[in-house]
Amino acid sequence: MIVLGIETSCDDTSAGIWDGRALLSNVVSTQLVHRSFGGIVPELASRSHLRFIIPVIRQALEQSGCVQDDIGAVAVTYGPGLAGSLLVGLSTAKGLALSLGIPFIGVNHLEGHIWANALAHPGLEPPFIVLIASGGHTQLVFTRAWGEYRILGRTRDDAAGEAFDKVGKLLEVGFPGGPAIEQLARKGNPKSLKFPRAFLEEGSLDFSFSGIKTAVLNHVRSIGPENTRSQLAELAAAFQEAVIDVLAVKTMLAAEKMRVRRVCLAGGVAVNRALQKRMADGPVELFFPPPALCADNGGMIARAGAHHLDRGGASPFDLAPDPSLNF
Ligand code: KG4
Ligand code: ZN
Repeated sequence: MIVLGIETSCDDTSAGIWDGRALLSNVVSTQLVHRSFGGIVPELASRSHLRFIIPVIRQALEQSGCVQDDIGAVAVTYGPGLAGSLLVGLSTAKGLALSLGIPFIGVNHLEGHIWANALAHPGLEPPFIVLIASGGHTQLVFTRAWGEYRILGRTRDDAAGEAFDKVGKLLEVGFPGGPAIEQLARKGNPKSLKFPRAFLEEGSLDFSFSGIKTAVLNHVRSIGPENTRSQLAELAAAFQEAVIDVLAVKTMLAAEKMRVRRVCLAGGVAVNRALQKRMADGPVELFFPPPALCADNGGMIARAGAHHLDRGGASPFDLAPDPSLNF
């Protein structure tokens, strides 16, 4: 069956087509309107989704070689995310499903990120640990079977991507901060500065990134703007290494605790090459999607939706957006 997946939970308007075996198309329109604000402005995000959702779906259909009547089901993210943004995708999906007389499936955005790994590695089978690290989330999830998830740890304050974005803002390298910091870090020595790593209580799989962010802020304040500009690469490298250190140690600990050998990375931060390299050095079999599937996209939502539909999991048409949905 052909499943259309729609994703509008944050600042990407996206639609993808899964035909039961392959992803036929995956169109993403990233909203640039937020860049000048140094962060996502929710009201602008939902207005922008409204403008782009139909053209993005049309383009996804065109690229897949399918027509509207070929679609057998519509899957859509219903949470977590920004309420107004979720509402645009959800209303569009319901309208399409109702008018075409086909099932509609509400998908948990976080589950979509996990399924992105299966799109990239079709042979991937649970059990595995997945580190979901994005601008809004940082969680360690034990996937016992597809559809069976248990949160082992989560951030107590900022998400890992949020820390990259906030430090990016502080260093004035643009938004989002992650890609810019990774680029700068390649030219810096990570050992030249030492930022704190919050490992929390012994054995804890939770995260905390607000301390690292504050340490960078204090350092920048103490050396002043001129020295900050000349030390950008060192600052970026030391900050990135501190974040990666904690992510890697805790992910390996989760794998050890659950006695699994497979580890997956998911979400926007999973694009980070230094993180991938560090994880690959661990005693696990590592999986991560290519960059286009790490970031928010409709393809992963279509894939997750198809799984639920196969198990009779269509959603009721009164399903509401759930901004704080979790597993
Ligand atoms: O999954 P995603 O596209 O959207 C959310 O659901 O949040 O993730 C975006 C986040 C941003 O915080 C961004 O700074 C971060 O992923 N990111 C990175 C890199 N590329 C994107 N963080 C570290 N290194 C990168 N190369
Ligand atoms: Zn996401």
